[in-house]
Amino acid sequence: MLKLKLLGTGTYLPELILTNEMLSQIVETNDEWITSRTGITERRLSSGEPTWHMAVRAAEKALAASGLAANDLDLIVATSVTPDYFFPSVSSIVQDEIGAANAFCFDLNAACTGFVYAVDLAARYLNTGDIRNVLVVSAENVSKLTDYTDRATCVLFGDGASAAVFSAGSPDDESCLLASHLGTKGEGGKYLVSQALKINHPFIENDQVWPDRFGHDKGHNLTMEGNEVYKFAVNAMTESIKAATEKAGIKLAQIKYIIPHQANSRIVDASARRLKVKSAQMISRVSDFGNTSSASIPICLDEIIRDDRLKRGDLIAICGFGAGLTYGAAILRY
Ligand code: UT7
Repeated sequence: MLKLKLLGTGTYLPELILTNEMLSQIVETNDEWITSRTGITERRLSSGEPTWHMAVRAAEKALAASGLAANDLDLIVATSVTPDYFFPSVSSIVQDEIGAANAFCFDLNAACTGFVYAVDLAARYLNTGDIRNVLVVSAENVSKLTDYTDRATCVLFGDGASAAVFSAGSPDDESCLLASHLGTKGEGGKYLVSQALKINHPFIENDQVWPDRFGHDKGHNLTMEGNEVYKFAVNAMTESIKAATEKAGIKLAQIKYIIPHQANSRIVDASARRLKVKSAQMISRVSDFGNTSSASIPICLDEIIRDDRLKRGDLIAICGFGAGLTYGAAILRY
């Protein structure tokens, strides 16, 4: 058990709404297919605001909710598969924009599982006693990597950002990370791919050109083998939640809310059935926001805190899966 107190959260969602109807104007699809296969009715898209901007707006809200000043932050971890620059990192830009001069900053790429990995990392840093306050910010413009001529993927994704401020809390606080279970299956990396830059310097000779490791030919545009990811997702979510609850020594019924990665409502429902938990225990906002990669879990977390569904002392599980293939679950007492 690691001391971990969630002090405040905040979300930024772009205003532009992309409906199923709008998608059916540009690719051969329809509302019936999208809602029945994914549960998604609309998603938000950036109107041009960069990832760093969304991260900063979410971070400002989380900081305001936490009651801390920017100078109180010791560490900023940003999670994103869609940064604006290879460097500086999203977290460095957030630090500059919010004026968190005392924080050291780095980005973490665990794809859609990024927030779960970052919370686990924050708890471990905080429990060293060396630092007091951590901002985790997950910001994604998945629209950057989306091919809007590919109906199999373009209906799934949306943009958004969300942040959370954590501290170790005071000695009498009950807030904590009870247990986590994180994992990666690198052999499944081929199922979800977006390419970065290729080697291209003046001294390269033609016979030295390497074929793409994954046979990927769409550049930055993401490719996905949906059925493989689906099967992986349901297994990874259920097994990691079970492993984390076992480690924590608690029963699933004691968890008030499970916040799964928001990729497809069928994945959320199938996981609930397999775990034998009530659907009211599973938080799902996939209908309105689609898959916002690592931002999807903190967006839901922020919502249940702001509408007062989550009370101090409640247990929650956050649980993700994504490219890598990464997966993981963490159980927190709020
Ligand atoms: O963050 C992690 C990211 N990814 C995921 O979590 C994705 C996990 N996978 C899934 O959610 C599902 O596999 C999908 C939603 C991607 C696909 O659903 P599915 O039920 O597995 O459909 P499918 O890929 O087996 O395709 C069924 C049919 C195909 O047509 P045929 O071959 O049966 O004639 C597709 O071409 O549906 C067709 N199809 C579409 N039709 C209308 C695929 N996309 C569309 C579309 N509209 N947008």
